[in-house]
Amino acid sequence: MLLYINACVRTESRTRVIADALVSKYSEPVTEVVLEKIDFPRVDDAFIRRRDDLKAEGDYSDPIFDLARQFAEADRIVIAAPFWDLSFPASLKQYFEMINVGGVTFTYTDEGAIRGLCRAKELIYVTTAGGDFCPEEYGFGYVKALARNFYGIQDVRLVKATGLDIVGADADRIVEDTVAGL
Ligand SMILES: Cc1cc2nc3c(=O)[nH]c(=O)nc-3n(C[C@H](O)[C@H](O)[C@H](O)COP(=O)(O)O)c2cc1C
Repeated sequence: MLLYINACVRTESRTRVIADALVSKYSEPVTEVVLEKIDFPRVDDAFIRRRDDLKAEGDYSDPIFDLARQFAEADRIVIAAPFWDLSFPASLKQYFEMINVGGVTFTYTDEGAIRGLCRAKELIYVTTAGGDFCPEEYGFGYVKALARNFYGIQDVRLVKATGLDIVGADADRIVEDTVAGL
């Protein structure tokens, strides 16, 4: 199963155009999670206590773990997220707060090191940016660090199109070229 995590927001999202084209290249069944449609719970004190209680009981069947279990079971993961404020929309952080669950997506060794529990061998991160100042550390770099250090997914790839909103840029052409290069 290919898990397509769609953090695109705008109706005319260019990131989504590129990610849709990428996802269509794979033959496995696709499960799309549209983050805009999820009413994420606030990760407040009560939420954390409840989740910790369930974990202590070893009860991972509660819906609170659904997104984490789905992520852990995926064979391939594609994340589509526009470049916002040097990273990505807040919904993607909310999603990570839901899936970063010890006992589901990662665990700890007896020595206290983190060990990934995710099945996926590959994670592809698709983004587009309005400008050309796109340092990777806060967006893609953050996701790559999670993938490699938490989830145990070593093969992490970036697909990006930048400079789309620069005056005079041919955004359609840039997107088309990016899709052609997939
Ligand atoms: C809330 C918001 C924040 C943005 N922040 C940045 C930014 O930090 N750097 C940048 O180059 N472009 C930024 N942009 C421009 C978007 O990265 C660009 O328009 C992108 O292609 C949007 O993707 P989409 O077409 O998939 O919605 C921002 C746009 C929005 C709406």
